[in-house]
Amino acid sequence: MASKKMASKALPATRHVVSINDLSDKDIETIFDTAQAYLKQLPDKHFSYRIGRSTDVGSNHILASLFYEPSTRTRLSFESAMIRLGGQIITSADPATSSAAKGESLADTVRVIANYADIIVIRHPRDGAARLAAEYSPIPVINGGDGSHEHPTQTLCDLFTLKQKNKRLKNLKVAISGDLRGSRTIHSFVYALARFGATIMPMPAKGMELPAHVDQRLREEFRCHMVSVPKGEGDNTSIDALYVTPEEPHQQTLFSGPEIDRDAGHDLEMLDKKVDALYVTRFQKERWAEKDQAYPRIDRKFLNEPKYSDASVMHPLPRVGELDVAFDSDKRAVYFEQAAYGVPIRMALISLLLGLKGKSLHRFAGGFEQDEQHLYVQPRHIGLHCSNSNCIVHDPMEVQYVRNKFHVVGSGEKTRLRCVYCEREIEHFVVASKKNKWYAADIPPLRRSTDHGLKDIILFANETDARAAGFHSRRAAADPPAARRAGGRAK
Ligand code: CP
Repeated sequence: MASKKMASKALPATRHVVSINDLSDKDIETIFDTAQAYLKQLPDKHFSYRIGRSTDVGSNHILASLFYEPSTRTRLSFESAMIRLGGQIITSADPATSSAAKGESLADTVRVIANYADIIVIRHPRDGAARLAAEYSPIPVINGGDGSHEHPTQTLCDLFTLKQKNKRLKNLKVAISGDLRGSRTIHSFVYALARFGATIMPMPAKGMELPAHVDQRLREEFRCHMVSVPKGEGDNTSIDALYVTPEEPHQQTLFSGPEIDRDAGHDLEMLDKKVDALYVTRFQKERWAEKDQAYPRIDRKFLNEPKYSDASVMHPLPRVGELDVAFDSDKRAVYFEQAAYGVPIRMALISLLLGLKGKSLHRFAGGFEQDEQHLYVQPRHIGLHCSNSNCIVHDPMEVQYVRNKFHVVGSGEKTRLRCVYCEREIEHFVVASKKNKWYAADIPPLRRSTDHGLKDIILFANETDARAAGFHSRRAAADPPAARRAGGRAK
């Protein structure tokens, strides 16, 4: 079992937000309290969800927005947030007009921009790019979306919207529809929902289910379990629902609600329970080779089903036809409010990462419990690589700055390697001893090596690669050749 330690001791002084899991539950609570304080202090007279005025707590601070992919909401709400805080912004919104077009690496770019700004928000088409940026940056880096990996600040807006509408998250039933594979907003969102004990109901478009590594992580780290539900007629829902064990210590009272008691049959109650929120996503065509796909369309008819009668309908936007505009006037439509929360939420996050001081501003609690992870760093010219071709480790502009690195996760037969950058996992690999020049396709040598810092081994994708690098099967090395054994007996 992984030991626990206080992450505050291990974390560098500069805090980055690359994954929603970089934030503790307490951190999220602090962000929400701060956002709420800004909404109260700087209100818009007409709309309770809109910031209407500015403060000067962030004067003398500069935010750099470094966007290698298109954005409307994330970039402009971050910039609006910084200006509302009294700070300044500098923007690189188009890689075609920055030195990226000349071939400059991300690793160099962030080290340069760190001299011009106090905090960076980055969006990039490569999975794991934000983690690489954070490794090289001496100032806080916020992930504004990296490939199909994660979009944690969108999740903060989504959770905040859910909390505003429901006053809690715990024991909510949230359906997620559309491209669950390509949508980074979904990946951050399901981790957060699971952490806070919501029931997640996946409704993927055909072939667009949650990626295997996200599904596995939900089950193993966040203790979700699957309950099969019958597919309704004319209904786009999948046959599965994910349930979260509610008694986990990582679930905070922030979103508390009634506990689920499985022994009392509450799982079955959750099957019949109405949906509290339906989260719709567009087809992420930039992540797929196929540009035209059959895709579920959510409209009034769909939402007339009794189970959606009280559901908030959410969407990270932009939408491109999957959510009928005729639904906009329905009181269940909350997506424009969800986008509006981008300003107070991002004001709060910037304030907390920069340690701004002002009336009613909170501070990060500073440290939270997390599993201690074993880190394996691959030698540069040998061994296995991340299996995700879109991971930043494979970007030709970054290869000289980045090493393949993996966290060793799971245990026993389920031991896996999780890429530090994109978090995709490798299940099958062989472990080789640097000293003895043997390799083994079973896990025990790796488990033993974790106690010694993983420095004595090299991991390969398969036995062929290990042999090509001059290693021999441990079995062959351990068993003397038959002729020698026979000679020994003859003596
Ligand atoms: N929700 C979201 O990320 O929108 P943008 O792509 O416009 O930033």
